[in-house]
Amino acid sequence: MEQLNQVLATSLDEIKQLKSLQELEQLKARYVGKSGAITAFMQKLKDIAPEERKSFGAEVNKIKTQFEDALNEQKQSIVAAELERKLASETIDVTLDGRGAKNGSLHPVSLTLERLVLLFGQMGFRVASGPEIETDYYNFKALNIPDNHPARAMQDTFYTESGHVLRTHTSPIQVRFAEKQTPPIKIVAPGRVFRVDMDATHSPMFHQLELLWIDKGISFANLKAVIIEFMRKFFEDDSLQVRFRASFFPFTEPSAEIDIYFAKAKKWLEVGGCGMVHPNVLNYMNIDANEYSGFAFGFGIDRLAMLKYGITDLRLMFENDLDFLTQFRGH
Ligand code: DAH
Repeated sequence: MEQLNQVLATSLDEIKQLKSLQELEQLKARYVGKSGAITAFMQKLKDIAPEERKSFGAEVNKIKTQFEDALNEQKQSIVAAELERKLASETIDVTLDGRGAKNGSLHPVSLTLERLVLLFGQMGFRVASGPEIETDYYNFKALNIPDNHPARAMQDTFYTESGHVLRTHTSPIQVRFAEKQTPPIKIVAPGRVFRVDMDATHSPMFHQLELLWIDKGISFANLKAVIIEFMRKFFEDDSLQVRFRASFFPFTEPSAEIDIYFAKAKKWLEVGGCGMVHPNVLNYMNIDANEYSGFAFGFGIDRLAMLKYGITDLRLMFENDLDFLTQFRGH
């Protein structure tokens, strides 16, 4: 009995020292586990004289209960202390300043696109669109681009397995729109275009805007007037010099390339192509070339945005670098 009480006393001391549930489980095993110190007394019962067995057994059980009660009490205070610690570490100081929410900003291409649609809208052009995955017919054939034209070569055009192309320009929208309408037709068509090309000034995906105006009596003078007015409005420079350089496009005749004089760099920069819609293309549009004429104009939106904002590397436009993109907030 004395030994038993001794074991209990030691265990109660040890229980008071317990700091964690893990320690508690270990201690429990040492006393009432399979080969625990209190369990050992139970196993001694069989060696005890039968007349003392009952009272000794009762005594061991009492001790065991005392041990377990003390252990449970300690367990509760450990759990309570742990909760206390957790709550303390998770306190939120509601008096601190908030982190604030940053305003988003539009991508320079989106900003430019919005301005383009606005400026052309003021000149009476409505917006049209077409699919990015095109047929050979709309991307090439109906634009008077014959089968052997270099623009069809594999190094320029992305072909799909189904025999479609990723449109290489926004010009197919001209035909898609015009074949279903009767003139006057006055549209701009912005969109993504795709070419197998990648360096500081070329990206496999970029943006173009296409313009088409078809009506009776439209001449090259109208073309010049619209393009010059647009360029001056876009660059916010009433005396911006615009130059038309004779060129070739299969879908226009005559054709020209458009240069603007970039005063900052003291040089002419090419910004787009244009021309009078080729009679063959009018035919594909189901428009009578004897009755109507029109002009078309196409340019790279990203390139215009770069000139406007002074961006020198086209790749920056598509890298999603927030330091770069947030500079255009509020433009
Ligand atoms: N589609 C031409 C290109 O990607 C650009 C172009 C040139 C569009 C002349 C036109 C045009 O509408 O008249 O390179």
